[in-house]
Amino acid sequence: MMRDGDGKANILLVDDIPANLLALRSILETLDQNLVEASSGEEALRHLLHDDFAVILLDVSLPGMDGYEAARLIRGRKRCRRTPIIFVTAYETPSERMIQAYSQGGVDFLVKPIVPAILRSKVAVFVELFQKTEQVKRQQEQLFTQQREMMRAGHLAVAGQLAAGVAHEVRNPLATIKVLVEGALRVKNPAPLSREELTVIHGEIARLERIVQDYLDFARPPALNRSLGDLREVVDQAAALLQANARRQGVHLVADYPEQPVWATVDHDQLRAVLVNLLLNAVEAMPRGGHLSITLAEKEQEIELNVTDTGSGFPPDILKRLFTPFVSGKPTGTGLGLCISRRIVEYHGGRIAAQNRAEGGAIVAITLPVLQND
Ligand SMILES: Nc1ncnc2c1ncn2[C@@H]1O[C@H](COP(=O)(O)OP(=O)(O)OP(=O)(O)O)[C@@H](O)[C@H]1O
Ligand SMILES: [Mg+2]
Repeated sequence: MMRDGDGKANILLVDDIPANLLALRSILETLDQNLVEASSGEEALRHLLHDDFAVILLDVSLPGMDGYEAARLIRGRKRCRRTPIIFVTAYETPSERMIQAYSQGGVDFLVKPIVPAILRSKVAVFVELFQKTEQVKRQQEQLFTQQREMMRAGHLAVAGQLAAGVAHEVRNPLATIKVLVEGALRVKNPAPLSREELTVIHGEIARLERIVQDYLDFARPPALNRSLGDLREVVDQAAALLQANARRQGVHLVADYPEQPVWATVDHDQLRAVLVNLLLNAVEAMPRGGHLSITLAEKEQEIELNVTDTGSGFPPDILKRLFTPFVSGKPTGTGLGLCISRRIVEYHGGRIAAQNRAEGGAIVAITLPVLQND
């Protein structure tokens, strides 16, 4: 990452001779970036543990671990796999090791004596590339956060409508029951309620139950806007939306689907929302990283979509009440993601099931019919 949010990129200068470091520094100073110095391969590796660098300038002939060996170790680290390296060498003729280093990619060579303008322009290119990449990453994260907020807001809006609806419809039967019971209580020695009155009360209680049940089932079906399309695209889009978030958390997210298109007549936006919900749950269940896969396969007359993770698994008390509105194991969760997902899947004529995997983590499986009858 860039340091202290000052927008400057880190550049690592590695040379055992202080005068050389000084020379590099004076050439690169005008770029106005963070210049970090290391006098050995080991020291360079230590810096790379904590910080990301736009480019590394690496003297080939370091004592002890030489530049090539240092580069090999640098490349071996996940964090630095793509960090560009500029080797600084005194020899013009390419050696075997130089060619080997080239073949690993992401490297460049500068032969001493260094021409300041060339060094500066090479480094400037890498700095720009780094800053662009960082900018894209930030934008992706922003986009993701916005989408997450919109989704949560959407859930809360649904919850709000539900609550208002329940409150409104519950009021009438409650008023009837109240009038009858209050009437019976008003006389000194309360006369038992007549059979007729009890029947009314009973009927109203049944109505209340129905109202609550209807709302719990999300009785109002979502309007589906179906169209024929390739489900692989839906999977790709959902995975792409989550990718930055997953990466930030060390979650390795892979999408797996057939080479041929998987055609289905579905509401692509709503199905994508379902997949985003499931992927998001999985990422949130893996705060310390892990593997997350989304697979799409066609089996006989059905399409199977599985989201599998290596996270914490469903907490047992949650698993028992999964797909129930407002059941959440998270401090900030609305507990609506899974029920909304189920509603959308079922409205497509499909099924959704969730369970913990024996080897750890959770799996949510969606089955959709291939032939849609509308
Ligand atoms: N992949 C998973 N691994 C472990 N637990 C999970 C997973 N998916 C869901 N859960 C558990 O199930 C609960 C319900 O999930 P659901 O998506 O319905 O709600 P939520 O994620 O809490 O909130 P939101 O409405 O914002 O999605 C979660 O709070 C979490 O405890
Ligand atoms: Mg959720």
